[in-house]
Amino acid sequence: MVNNEIKAFVQQYYPAENIAEIKIIDNRLIIEIKNLAENSETSAELKQKMRQLFPQYKTSVIFSEEKIVDLGVQAIEKWHIPRVKKIIGVASGKGGVGKSTTAVNLALALANLGKRVALLDADIYGPSVPTMLGYEAEPLSSDDGQTFIPFNEYGIKSVSIGSLIDRNTPLIWRGAKACGALEQLATQTVWGDTDIMVIDMPPGTGDILITLSQRIDFAGIVIVSTPQDIALIDAIKGVNMFKQIGTPVLGIVENMSYFVCPHCGKETDIFGHHGARQTAERLGENFLGALPLDAQIRENSDNGTPIVAVNPDSPHTKAYEKIAAEIIKRIG
Ligand SMILES: Nc1ncnc2c1ncn2[C@@H]1O[C@H](COP(=O)(O)OP(=O)(O)O)[C@@H](O)[C@H]1O
Ligand SMILES: [Mg+2]
Repeated sequence: MVNNEIKAFVQQYYPAENIAEIKIIDNRLIIEIKNLAENSETSAELKQKMRQLFPQYKTSVIFSEEKIVDLGVQAIEKWHIPRVKKIIGVASGKGGVGKSTTAVNLALALANLGKRVALLDADIYGPSVPTMLGYEAEPLSSDDGQTFIPFNEYGIKSVSIGSLIDRNTPLIWRGAKACGALEQLATQTVWGDTDIMVIDMPPGTGDILITLSQRIDFAGIVIVSTPQDIALIDAIKGVNMFKQIGTPVLGIVENMSYFVCPHCGKETDIFGHHGARQTAERLGENFLGALPLDAQIRENSDNGTPIVAVNPDSPHTKAYEKIAAEIIKRIG
């Protein structure tokens, strides 16, 4: 689809072996560079040249890492999370696609369907579960100081890495601390008898995500994406990374899939509905369902009153419950 002229041109800027993909979707030209540190000067230069030569396209240059995960010979020991039967991770290729909103509402939807549910906020880059469930404090430790007592908002047990790691700590240090802190939170919280634990995972395909995937015995991962191509490219990378590690992927959820006009009820596909369904099909993965872009979902999520908890009869709650039922079916 991409002509040789464009290919040859990109090769003047990046070595051929680092050019993962060049593709054109509508009027967008997407150049994916792999295994190279991002250099904004070079990519800006390339984008500017592209604009001059091919003004019909809007060019994006994205960088990815093709991680070769070395599983080694010996099996990696899993964390023991007491009394928790099944664990699912909610992940996304990039931030801001509604991963946490989906994780929180899915956890509540699973509880609505009669499951005993725990929610672990493991997103060290943007822990937001406390805001979404409306609490601020750190979890209490038990009398002997050896365990954490989880919060119990809206009938689900939860703790957040945000309570343990200061937001002002530089990211690089946070990463080093994060795994130990996450292990403690996961294994030393008094979860009680739990049917399903939902983990809000860090976005992307970074080292912490890989470590979590190796250490936690996941029943499966739910990938959240918006329908835009750029988000979907990242979602595909996420799916591939989990597969490479051997962590089962349960399927893809399309968030902010369509817009329902609050005045007339008409549905509009702002970003092009069904992108995630098509991507799931192409990857041979399950499509788990679509959630609308809706001001109520946002307000409730940002106010600590998640829609599934406070508006059990809304169509949005039904949409989350439908996905939750699909997940239960798949993890058994
Ligand atoms: N379906 C939706 N409709 C409207 N707003 C949404 C929806 N999903 C998420 N949001 C809003 O988008 C923003 C990012 O969502 P969030 O769940 O924090 O994303 P992530 O965890 O992927 O960074 C939040 O303000 C959230 O309220
Ligand atoms: Mg988040």
